Amino acid sequence: MALCVFVLMLVQAVAPGPASPLDYGSFKSKVQPLLLEKRPGHARCATCHSRSTAFRLQPLPAGRTAYTEEESRKNFEAASRMVLPGVPLKSRLLTMPLAHEAGGTEFHPGGKHWTSQDDPEWKALADWVKNASRDTPHGQ
Ligand code: HEC
Repeated sequence: MALCVFVLMLVQAVAPGPASPLDYGSFKSKVQPLLLEKRPGHARCATCHSRSTAFRLQPLPAGRTAYTEEESRKNFEAASRMVLPGVPLKSRLLTMPLAHEAGGTEFHPGGKHWTSQDDPEWKALADWVKNASRDTPHGQ
């Protein structure tokens, strides 16, 4: 445990960027809007996932259509916990809302928002996760 903390501190000390290998800027501009988007037949991700779910986004107060910087940072942290950097198909953020036939999980209580890995929205999420791969041994 102590060794882990030490290694983590060392990594943070030598790494040029922030601790997360995931990019905050592209999360904010490309991923977060998809979590707020209304798709036919489905509720918005953020509608369910700002309440009692384990994947917890910040609630967007009535009348607001955009998150503040602080809320975006918290959403970035919440979404980051649901992904394995570099590996979209091992990231629950991507597999839960993806159709089972297309490589997603068998079931997601919030429904299957994407039917194919070629869906441009799903690809945008996948790019965010893939672009973190340079720092991870399993990335490609
Ligand atoms: C109708 C409500 C609803 C909607 C809409 C919804 N979800 Fe979910 N989702 C759930 C519930 C309920 C669970 C399982 C309970 C939990 O995670 O606490 C879940 C689980 C998840 C998990 C796994 C959480 C974990 O801890 O393993 C992820 C990731 C996720 N959803 C992402 C999304 C994304 C991304 C969207 C939009 C594309 C979305 N969900 C839309 C209700 C919803």
